[in-house]
Amino acid sequence: MLIRTPPRHDPTASEITPRRVWQRRRELIRAAAAGLALPAAPGLALAQGPKAEPAKLPAKPGPFGTTDKPTPYKDVTTYNNFYEFGLDKDDPVKNAGRLKTRPWTVAVEGEVGKPGTFGIEELLKLAPMEERVYRMRCVEGWSMVIPWVGFPLSELIKRVEPTGNAKFVEFYTLNDPKQMPGVSSSVIAWPYVEGLRMDEANSPLTLLTFGLYGEVLPNQNGAPLRLVVPWKYGFKSGKSLVKIRFVEKQPVTSWNRSAPQEYGFYSNVNPNVDHPRWSQATERRIGEDGFIQRKRPTLMFNGYADQVASLYAGMDLKRFY
Ligand code: MTE
Repeated sequence: MLIRTPPRHDPTASEITPRRVWQRRRELIRAAAAGLALPAAPGLALAQGPKAEPAKLPAKPGPFGTTDKPTPYKDVTTYNNFYEFGLDKDDPVKNAGRLKTRPWTVAVEGEVGKPGTFGIEELLKLAPMEERVYRMRCVEGWSMVIPWVGFPLSELIKRVEPTGNAKFVEFYTLNDPKQMPGVSSSVIAWPYVEGLRMDEANSPLTLLTFGLYGEVLPNQNGAPLRLVVPWKYGFKSGKSLVKIRFVEKQPVTSWNRSAPQEYGFYSNVNPNVDHPRWSQATERRIGEDGFIQRKRPTLMFNGYADQVASLYAGMDLKRFY
């Protein structure tokens, strides 16, 4: 996701590599000062400090998995967008450690027969956990392949019994200035709000997600639970959800409100509809950066057309971008 003012741009591989090298150098200098020896880690190595091992989150293999090679865990958990913790890609891993993910509740309200507040432990037991290896494409032009752990959002939806007026679903994420240094900036209106049409929310691809790589979500990836909508640009997949609201009218989402010409409500991955400031025809796969940067063609609906194209039959996708 790019922010219009002040102008920023997605770093190219050649920009990223020196930053990684620089970070590694800084880490080595600190370690040397403390009299420690660090292993010679190739590539990315961020100073994260001592941490407990993340808890395991076992899951059975689920459908729709891609055979693309998963992006290394290190990249998935250190190259993030989570503006509540800062604007740079390495800000979330540096700042999200302070996020308290227990106790945690998610309010479900609006046009449903059974509204209520779900505790995170209850949500974790709501349906069997599945591992889904999904391609994810960011609107900025990069992509990853991530083995998520979760279950279809439809499992929760059916339990709260939406009424006939429920046409859309709004997702609200945590907005806590005490834990989230980034919400003091006005890049978007907080809380971060996203939305889906009801049939999109009920798609078997749409995942309520609690983990990745067989472990609970690291905070920077949206702990303790987030949405994953793999055929849409990454910003549709809200992190650290606290409220899900069923509504009749199309929600006003945070990015759509801040720059409507750039970020539409649908935001389906579409190589034929350029962002006003850059092409969406190709992407850079994180973790594949080499001396010569390889660009991959971006696939319609991020490669999930078989599952979701029918949701948009007859729609002009240039207008409903
Ligand atoms: N959710 C919240 N609450 N805040 C954010 O800034 N960024 C979005 C999305 N969800 C964001 C968010 C964007 S732009 C992307 S690309 C994905 O999270 C990135 O997810 P990842 O860091 O796990 O790859």
